[in-house]
Amino acid sequence: MIKREKIKELLAATAFNREVSVMGWVRTFRNNQFIALNDGSCMGNIQVVVNFNNTPEELLKRITTGAAISVKGTLIESLGKGQRVEVKASSIEILGDSDPERYPLQPKKHSLEFLREIAHLRFRTNTFNAIFKVRHALAFAVHQFYNERGFVYMHTPIITASDAEGAGEMFRVTTIDPENPPRTTEGKIDYNEDFFGRSTNLTVSGQLEGELAAMAFGQIYTFGPTFRAENSNTTRHLAEFWMIEPEVAFADLEDNMKLAEDMLKYLIRYALDNCGEELEFLNTRLLEEEKSKPQHERSELSLIDKLNFCLNNDFEHLTYTEAIAILKASKPNQKKQFKYLIDEWGADLQSEHERYLVEKHFKKPVILTDYPADIKSFYMRQNEPDDQGRKTVAAMDILFPGIGEIVGGSQREERLDRLTQRMRDLNIPEEELWWFLDTRRFGSAPHSGFGLGFERLVLFVTGMTNIRDVIAFPRFPRNAEF
Ligand code: 4AD
Ligand code: MG
Repeated sequence: MIKREKIKELLAATAFNREVSVMGWVRTFRNNQFIALNDGSCMGNIQVVVNFNNTPEELLKRITTGAAISVKGTLIESLGKGQRVEVKASSIEILGDSDPERYPLQPKKHSLEFLREIAHLRFRTNTFNAIFKVRHALAFAVHQFYNERGFVYMHTPIITASDAEGAGEMFRVTTIDPENPPRTTEGKIDYNEDFFGRSTNLTVSGQLEGELAAMAFGQIYTFGPTFRAENSNTTRHLAEFWMIEPEVAFADLEDNMKLAEDMLKYLIRYALDNCGEELEFLNTRLLEEEKSKPQHERSELSLIDKLNFCLNNDFEHLTYTEAIAILKASKPNQKKQFKYLIDEWGADLQSEHERYLVEKHFKKPVILTDYPADIKSFYMRQNEPDDQGRKTVAAMDILFPGIGEIVGGSQREERLDRLTQRMRDLNIPEEELWWFLDTRRFGSAPHSGFGLGFERLVLFVTGMTNIRDVIAFPRFPRNAEF
């Protein structure tokens, strides 16, 4: 038996007139003669030429779009236009039929909305082949980046009893029977009787556990799924997303920003160097899509130009306070075009404001620092109040064109008294985070870290516009299909 070869390798082959075995799924079958066969190894199909004169009619009928087939034949240089090589079939076996009346993925252009409904099959399209190849490459590059720098990869828990962000957007994890829960004498649900003997949830971030490890290894990162029960039905939010969270001891906010910028550039460069074919395809896809938009809505740069632009420019650094001044004086604010008008220091920035700064004002990635303490998490390091007595924290958010916030991070509050005071102010019980506070009791040290939303990065690199198209099976309000 001859060994199956991948289509990617056959398309690049230089040795011809040899016997090959190839398996894949039929994309199209033309004139009872030409099969476009794809096996997922690349976006390209190989052409299989069938001699219909000596192939039974019964078999020909079963070569339909979506069917899985096994082909043996001779690899030859193609005489026809459009392909360099083809397989002259000597035998064809149907591995799995695909009823053409019922197969939803027809050889025509389907909308992304429709493909989302058949997410179990959309991997079989060129667009999703390209997206998930890029996603894979970026995930691999994340590990390579941190490994090259001597970081330790930590697997932080998925089930936890703490709310790392203090935002209360958690999915409960329980084995309690909702029909018949154990009750306390006051009639409340008794979580002492639950599986873990306490109330637990899916993690919103691995940061707090990451900090524990950083205070021993010096530099660590996590890369895992995180869960947010926020009711955000947007093109940028998922209820289940993957996050990369490095944490570094003896590092301040400057070091943190440098690490984040280096990482983002490394990942983008890795994709450009290793996903040429996929990015070329996605670039063309985007250009085609934009043709249907009015001129003023089209991007100024193509996808590949935009990625290169990011690599070749330093990110703009400015403080929240400086950003507020720019936004306040901006045209859309003056003309009341923002949905949320900026009039006071302390306002939380909405994505319309972030995108104005990045896309209109600076026209490049921006790092915003030193946010008001009131709109940020309890663990962020407290700055000295400014000349007007306003309290800020050593936070940094990185904003990207078309995306808004892609990274959020900070220097951490390493001073025990400051941290516990802040927790008291926010009603965060100290007993629950005793282990977190222990790092501040025993050998506390300045340290910093951030979180990169992996899907937002994939969104940026692929030029897609909806986050639901860059994760295999998206989870969002009222949807957990597949
Ligand atoms: O800004 P966030 O909430 O920060 C944290 O969770 C920190 N614990 C990170 C750290 O300092 N270690 O989230 C970090 C990033 C955001 O910048 C965004 O890219 C992404 O995670 N993100 C989401 N991505 C998709 N869907 C959502 N619902 C997201 N929420 C946050
Ligand atoms: Mg954030």
